[in-house]
Amino acid sequence: MPEQLKNNRLIKALLREPVDMTPVWIMRQAGRYLPEYRETRKKAGDFVTLCQTPELACEVTMQPLHRYPLDAAIIFSDILTIPDAMGLGLKLVESVGPRFERSITNSNDIKNLPLPDPEQELKYVMDSIRLVRRELNGDVPLIGFSGSPWTLATYMIEGGSSREFSKVKGMLEAEPASLHLLLKHLSDSITLYLKAQINAGAQAIMIFDTWGGILKTPNYMNFSLYYMKIICEHLKNEHSEVKVPVILFTKGADKWIEKIVEADCDAISIDWNSNIGQVRERIGKRVAIQGNMEPRILKESEKKIVDEVESILRSYGSGSGHVFNLGHGITPDIEPDKVGILVDAVHNLSRQYHKTK
Ligand code: CP3
Repeated sequence: MPEQLKNNRLIKALLREPVDMTPVWIMRQAGRYLPEYRETRKKAGDFVTLCQTPELACEVTMQPLHRYPLDAAIIFSDILTIPDAMGLGLKLVESVGPRFERSITNSNDIKNLPLPDPEQELKYVMDSIRLVRRELNGDVPLIGFSGSPWTLATYMIEGGSSREFSKVKGMLEAEPASLHLLLKHLSDSITLYLKAQINAGAQAIMIFDTWGGILKTPNYMNFSLYYMKIICEHLKNEHSEVKVPVILFTKGADKWIEKIVEADCDAISIDWNSNIGQVRERIGKRVAIQGNMEPRILKESEKKIVDEVESILRSYGSGSGHVFNLGHGITPDIEPDKVGILVDAVHNLSRQYHKTK
């Protein structure tokens, strides 16, 4: 429970309660930029086995926390666990990205998709969460996550990563009812999955809508945001005594931010194409904001990183409701020391914005 957390800055900031400094964590903080991650991955043999072995998933979840004073852990897993549990067969192909052995091509494929039981087919994720909670011993909160229905549908229909999204866009135009059937099924599955994560010990939830930004406005509303909103409504009361905040992240969503905050979420995560100060003005006090440094800045000098942190903190301004993060995942080419510089800069430079008068 958050009251028992030794460092509860993340949950407090997500709920817009006062904090002593701005909390910070990094999307993909456990990943290939860390040599110890690459070691554990080698030990596992491949990425999917790493995700599916709770002891190893726990080990890599903890790795960035041993290096840096981060304010949160995020469970090591992937958004593609659900389609894999539905029988599509996930593989990570070197320098290609995730691929499925089977993809979704028509409404029959959709009707035949099972609804995975989170404590059966996805038990390895719940076991990883339980292990990490024990390992964390209340130091910082643990974030659970899922992909959004739309983003998972793109991978299931394209059969993996895509540049053009021609198959999923084709289905949207030619067979919208079939696509809605898939999105509804995914929403049901994601709701069960996230509720199970909360019951296993996740203390905040993030929904990754990596590909919502490729849609035209009305399609974003109907095929992406609509379903995320339903999931948020279902999660709203999924906690015993303490609230489990939900963060929504649509990459490339600057023009839709006013609409996104109308979903029952507690926070939005924004990429670096938004101006965080302006976003704060646009949404008022409705939700907290997470973000939004461009990952590429981590390749620059220490001074440039610190300057950028300072500029984002200044743009957000005084008061709680900001969780510092990158605008998207950290890339494998980043020097690990640069992450330490970032985290320290956020903590040191943000105190002045949290002074109570
Ligand atoms: O943030 C964290 O530390 C938690 C772990 C996490 C991973 N994937 C581990 C991972 C999270 C939150 C994800 C989410 C995820 N997975 C997203 C949404 C987030 C985003 O970036 O927008 C997406 C689109 C995926 C699908 C996926 N999984 C892709 C496109 C890839 C290939 C990425 C690449 O850089 O090659 C993966 C594999 C993956 N997931 C890796 C990691 C650390 C790389 C695995 C490896 O090569 O060892």
